[in-house]
Amino acid sequence: MANPDKVKVGIIGSGFEADIHAAAFQIMPEDAEVVAVASPTPGHAQELANRYGIPRAYLDYREMLKEPGLEMVTITAPNRLHAQMTQHIAKAGIHVVCEKPLCMTLEEADAMIDICRKHGVLLFYAEELFFTPKYVKAKEMADQGAFGKVYQVKQSEKHFGPHADWFWDVNSSGGGVFMDMGCHGIAFCHWFLGRPKIKSVYAHMGTYVHGDKTIGEDDSVCVIEFDNGAVGIVENSWARRGGMDDRVEVYGEGGVTYANLHMGNALPTYSEYGFGYAVEKAPTTKGWTYPVFEELWNYGFPQEMRHFARCVRGREAPQATGEDGRVVMEALYAGYASAGLGCKVALPYRPEGAAKPIDGWLRHRAR
Ligand SMILES: NC(=O)c1ccc[n+]([C@@H]2O[C@H](COP(=O)([O-])OP(=O)(O)OC[C@H]3O[C@@H](n4cnc5c(N)ncnc54)[C@H](O)[C@@H]3O)[C@@H](O)[C@H]2O)c1
Repeated sequence: MANPDKVKVGIIGSGFEADIHAAAFQIMPEDAEVVAVASPTPGHAQELANRYGIPRAYLDYREMLKEPGLEMVTITAPNRLHAQMTQHIAKAGIHVVCEKPLCMTLEEADAMIDICRKHGVLLFYAEELFFTPKYVKAKEMADQGAFGKVYQVKQSEKHFGPHADWFWDVNSSGGGVFMDMGCHGIAFCHWFLGRPKIKSVYAHMGTYVHGDKTIGEDDSVCVIEFDNGAVGIVENSWARRGGMDDRVEVYGEGGVTYANLHMGNALPTYSEYGFGYAVEKAPTTKGWTYPVFEELWNYGFPQEMRHFARCVRGREAPQATGEDGRVVMEALYAGYASAGLGCKVALPYRPEGAAKPIDGWLRHRAR
């Protein structure tokens, strides 16, 4: 029986992140329920629906948008589709949750923000690091003055590469690991420091182990200068063996904290025989592994989705918006251009003639 107080949610996509969204809404079910899912590959949306008891499955998401009473739709499709999907959802008068990175170009980002404003719907940017319990604790301590003036924040996310083909195709993804996971680190540093303006971005990147699969970069390092004097360091890799590694370091004149998202929430384990599942993208469960418990909770996905639902009901003020996603897009463009030019790039930065962020790097690399 539908509960009228719960926000009615639809999910676009039925892959990796769609599964996380469906699970997240079930882990914290008080404020929202998923009533529909849409995905174009026959059978896939229905499979996700069966797995999570979602009442309706569609092949075409535009059909799903006609459902009476649908209030919020989450986009978990490849990056190149985020902008057009947002247009359709907003025009249907439905609130939008868009997965990271926001889209492919700054023009798309502006248009997404505009259309949502015009139709009076909220545009949420699904950056779960704003809700990751361990990272939220680090920010609370920083905001309470634990570290004095924070001069450096570092966020890094590394694994051995994504699960689906489209990530490796820069026309679908917009870039390699800097686009895919650097977007988390940029958003994190900006949010952690209280959203100061970005003065400049400097990045270095390369394709070290996956040149057979992609022309995109599989490792990147990025330094962001903020106008409050602090520096953000964003390190990412699709070339790092051994499963997901996600961590933060915060340095202030009065203190320091280290937050490793998985370690400390993991069980140092040795197994001769292996077992079901250790951690995202771990290649094996034999030998020494670090299985995590409550993985989605530790990332903050349920807390993130609950927050979005509560914003729709006016119970909370949005903490992760299209504007955050746009800040990240501009820094991504500047970072790729910086890596191509070999020097730091000042913001505001408006790229000329780039259809996707990685073009700023590829253009120079080809010379
Ligand atoms: N927040 C995070 O940590 C996180 C993690 C993984 C992925 N993501 C993001 O989520 C998005 C999806 O990534 P994924 O890993 O789930 O990819 P995936 O390949 O596992 O799933 C993509 C889904 O999109 C569907 N799709 C493709 N074209 C579509 C269309 N025209 N209409 C509707 N659905 C369509 C596919 O059928 C598939 O179900 C990406 O933007 C990615 O960056 C975020």
